[in-house]
Amino acid sequence: MQHHVKDLGLADKGKDRIEWAQQSMPVLQLIRERFSREKPLKGIRISACLHVTTETANLAITLKDGGADVSVCASNPLSTQDDVASALVKEHQIPAFAIKGEDNKTYYSHILAALDSHPQITMDDGADLVTTILTERKDLIPEVLGGTEETTTGVIRLRSMAKEGVLKFPVISVNDADTKHMFDNRYGTGQSTVDGVIRATNLLLAGMRVVVSGYGWCGRGIAMRARGMGADVIITEVNAVRALEAVMDGLRVMPMIEAAKIGQLFVTVTGNKSVIRKEHFEAMTSGAILANSGHFNVEIDIPALEAMSKSKRRIREFVDEYSLNGGKRIYLLGEGRLINLASAEGHPASVMDMSFANQALSVEYLIKNRSRLENQVYPVPYDIDQEVARLKLKAMNSEIDALTQDQDRYLNSWAEGT
Ligand SMILES: NC(=O)c1ccc[n+]([C@@H]2O[C@H](COP(=O)([O-])OP(=O)(O)OC[C@H]3O[C@@H](n4cnc5c(N)ncnc54)[C@H](O)[C@@H]3O)[C@@H](O)[C@H]2O)c1
Repeated sequence: MQHHVKDLGLADKGKDRIEWAQQSMPVLQLIRERFSREKPLKGIRISACLHVTTETANLAITLKDGGADVSVCASNPLSTQDDVASALVKEHQIPAFAIKGEDNKTYYSHILAALDSHPQITMDDGADLVTTILTERKDLIPEVLGGTEETTTGVIRLRSMAKEGVLKFPVISVNDADTKHMFDNRYGTGQSTVDGVIRATNLLLAGMRVVVSGYGWCGRGIAMRARGMGADVIITEVNAVRALEAVMDGLRVMPMIEAAKIGQLFVTVTGNKSVIRKEHFEAMTSGAILANSGHFNVEIDIPALEAMSKSKRRIREFVDEYSLNGGKRIYLLGEGRLINLASAEGHPASVMDMSFANQALSVEYLIKNRSRLENQVYPVPYDIDQEVARLKLKAMNSEIDALTQDQDRYLNSWAEGT
C-alpha cells in the first residue's frame, strides 16, 4: 500500500487519540454503524484532501466501513497530525500522504499521490483536489461522480468554476449546511483559534485589545470567545450588515488602519487576501501579534512584512519575530497559516461530528442521485441537515416539541390568523 507519513512508529499514539475523538462523535458513530451493515459506498474510490486530524480519521474509517476505498492527503502543509496519519496507514490500512510541515512541493505531490487512486468521489477542504483534477489530471474527470467541499473558501472557488463552466462534476457544499457553518465555523473556529493563539504564545487575553478581521461565521465565534476571556474586541469589516451586527453585539468597529494603531493581537478570518498589509504594519505599535484563521496564508501580506524587516528569528515554536527599521517588532504566529490547526488541534471532535456526518451522508446522496445532478455546486439536502441536528440533539440529551396538527394547519394556511 502506497503512503507517505512521518513515522509509522507514531501509530499507537494516533490510534488512541482517534478513539478518544470518536467518543465525542456520536452522530458519525451512528452513521458508521449503519454504513457497516448496509455498505452503501461499496467499491467506491474516494480521495479526501482534509486536515489530517483525529476527527478526519474517524470520517475516513466511517467511509471505509461503508465499503469505500479511501485515500487521504493533507489540505494544509501545517495541519497534519503525524501520529494520526501513521495510524491511518498502520491500523486502518488507509493510504495517507501527509507530513506536518511539508514544503509546498511535497504538499502538491501528496495531492497527486491521493489522486493516483482514480477517485470517483473527491472530498475537499479548500478545493485543491478539484482544482488539481481540472488543471493537471484532466484524464481523471470521466471517472469522477462528484465531490464534497468542507469550507467557505473552497465553496467560493467552486462556485466561480461552475459560473465559468469549468466545473466538470457536481459538488455538494457541506459548508452551507446549517449544521456545519453555524456550529463548526462559529463555535469550532471560535474556540480553537483562541486555543491556538494561547498555545503558541501563552498570552493572557484578559484586558488585551484583540482585532478580529471579518465578522462572518468564524469571526463571530472568535470575537465571542475572546470577549468571554476578557479581551477588548475590535472588528474590521467590509460588509455593512455584518459590521452593523458587530456594533449591535456591543463591539467596536473601525477600519484596519485605525485598528492597527491600537490593536495588540490581530486575527484575520475573512477568506480574502492582504487584509493586513504594508500600511497597517507601519501603523502598528511594537509588539503587535498577528495570526490568521482563514483558509489560505494570504490574509496577512507576509511578503510585505518580510520586505520591511531587517531580520527575522523564531523566538518560540509557532512565533516568528520580525524586526523592522526603528526597532519595531512584529510577531507572526504559525507562518500566517490557520492558527487553530498549526499550533492547536483544530476543531473539537464534538463539532466536527456534525460537519463530518454531513460529509458522509452527502457522499451517499451523491452516489444515489448522480444521474440527476448537473455540474454545479449543490447545498446539502434539507433532510440531511435536519437529520444531523436531530441526532446531535438526541446525543446531547435534549428534546424538542413537535407541531400539533392544529399548529401545522395554522402555519400552512394563508386564511388563518385573521
Ligand atoms: N480555521 C478554520 O478551521 C476554519 C474553519 C472554517 C472556515 N475557515 C475559513 O475562514 C474564512 C472565513 O470563513 P467564514 O465562514 O467566516 O466566511 P464568511 O463569508 O461567513 O465571513 C467572512 C467575512 O469576512 C469579511 N471580509 C472580506 N474581506 C474583508 C476585509 N478585507 N476586511 C474585513 N473583512 C472582510 C466578509 O465581509 C465576511 O463578513 C474562510 O477562508 C474559511 O474557509 C477556517
